Amino acid sequence: MSSRSAVQLSAQGISQYYGRFAALDNVDLDVRQGEFLTLLGPSGSGKTTLLMILAGFLSPTSGKLMEQGVDIIKRSAEKRNYGMVFQGYALFPHMSVADNVAYPLRIRKVAGEERLRRVKHILEVVGLGAHMHKKPSELSGGQQQRVAIARALVFEPELLLLDEPLSALDKNLREQLQTELQRIHRQVGTSFVFVTHDQGEALALSSRIAIFNHGKLTQVDTPENIYNRPDSRFVAEFLGKMNLFPLADLTRSGATASGRCGSSVLHALAPNPLSAAQPTVLAVRPEHMELHNECPTRDGYNVMAAQLTDKVYQGSSIHLALKVGGDASPVNLSVPGNHPGALMPSGAPVWLSWPVQQSFLLQA
Ligand SMILES: Nc1ncnc2c1ncn2[C@@H]1O[C@H](COP(=O)(O)OP(=O)(O)O)[C@@H](O)[C@H]1O
Ligand SMILES: [Mg+2]
Repeated sequence: MSSRSAVQLSAQGISQYYGRFAALDNVDLDVRQGEFLTLLGPSGSGKTTLLMILAGFLSPTSGKLMEQGVDIIKRSAEKRNYGMVFQGYALFPHMSVADNVAYPLRIRKVAGEERLRRVKHILEVVGLGAHMHKKPSELSGGQQQRVAIARALVFEPELLLLDEPLSALDKNLREQLQTELQRIHRQVGTSFVFVTHDQGEALALSSRIAIFNHGKLTQVDTPENIYNRPDSRFVAEFLGKMNLFPLADLTRSGATASGRCGSSVLHALAPNPLSAAQPTVLAVRPEHMELHNECPTRDGYNVMAAQLTDKVYQGSSIHLALKVGGDASPVNLSVPGNHPGALMPSGAPVWLSWPVQQSFLLQA
């Protein structure tokens, strides 16, 4: 989905207070036409609260919800025409799959023949065409969740809101359903707003990811941009592993900043002027770092002496922890099992190198 798609729904200045506690604090977030937008954050960060506000089940303390120039914040959930899928399947146990899926159409007084046509179509889309006449109890957890998705899509909602729909499933099933969900999204073209606390799931599925922490929206961007250029330490560390090097005596020349970490001078991309106010750390993802026996000479690379401290066998790879100079925390790194570094004894002196192009600055 193009990042320039039109805005479908715009949450503006949304706050939700419980007493003096801000479950959501002045959140601005657009949902774009046809996108797969994921709300990602630790437990308690306000994701469900925002989803409930989008759905119309919760009226926020303050803020607007603009749809085509109209503030719909006071519009009831029924009048918003959005589909909703929860973690628990919430299917009617006594009804067949077909009747469960037909339910929203009955409420909307869609006539029998048209109703059946739409139910059959959406059950095909979710891959349950052959299970129409079964009861929910005759289906697996993953199949039940697909019924719930079909039921939420059958009335062709303008938006599908999903709150941790895969969290109750075991790992294999969850991965299967992730692929299914992506396909369903492509096929129906409806905008999805999807809540999860699972970073991998967010990276795998989303057009864009909105990251929440303590009720605040901290960053929203494509998975690639969020992963490669997190703009805060929280996002960097929440979304995968990151090695951090505190830098002293920071200077900037062109688009590169340089600073001292122990006895090494390290360089990082610095597209913007340095802010004098706060100390800064150099950040690099472990997969960009290389391990050497001897000091490498490489243009455009940072090079640093290190000492191997720990090795953890992980099957296809070996996790290494290394001590470096300065005030830096231990560096974490994975190498293939047949890498020479994997055979070195703990305490061995080694060298690390990584491209300046993959090094960027974060506030400490
Ligand atoms: N009705 C409520 N009364 C008081 N606190 C609430 C209520 N609903 C949610 N909260 C609090 O708001 C915060 C955000 O909750 P929630 O949106 O459910 O988080 P998430 O979905 O990200 O795990 C949590 O600290 C939660 O305890
Ligand atoms: Mg939640």
